[in-house]
Amino acid sequence: MTPANEWIKITKVENLPLREGRPVKLGGVEIALFNLGDRFVAVENQCPHQGGPLCDGIVSGLHVVCPLHGWKFDLESGAPVQASSPNCIATFPTRVNDGVVQVNLAGGSRIEPEETAD
Ligand code: FES
Repeated sequence: MTPANEWIKITKVENLPLREGRPVKLGGVEIALFNLGDRFVAVENQCPHQGGPLCDGIVSGLHVVCPLHGWKFDLESGAPVQASSPNCIATFPTRVNDGVVQVNLAGGSRIEPEETAD
């Protein structure tokens, strides 16, 4: 079992272009790592609709749009932005240490859709 405080080194900061995503396989989990300019965010890479690769989605502000059918998700909370996407995606804590982006896989979480309802 991975300790909750375990940070996994992914890549140097300069390897992640601004407003682009990159897929990263960590054990049996594939995440999408994004550079938002002032920070990095990590989410599960599989869209809950039909499995589209979110790492290839278009980043707009704090949102990513799935490249297959356009479902939109908040990259910080994992919440769907549009009513047509009822499922949330998991998010994972990130940090930068000595110029290297790190992800805490064990610290990942997924909010429930009703938590996002008005
Ligand atoms: S697979 Fe992502 S919107 Fe359809």
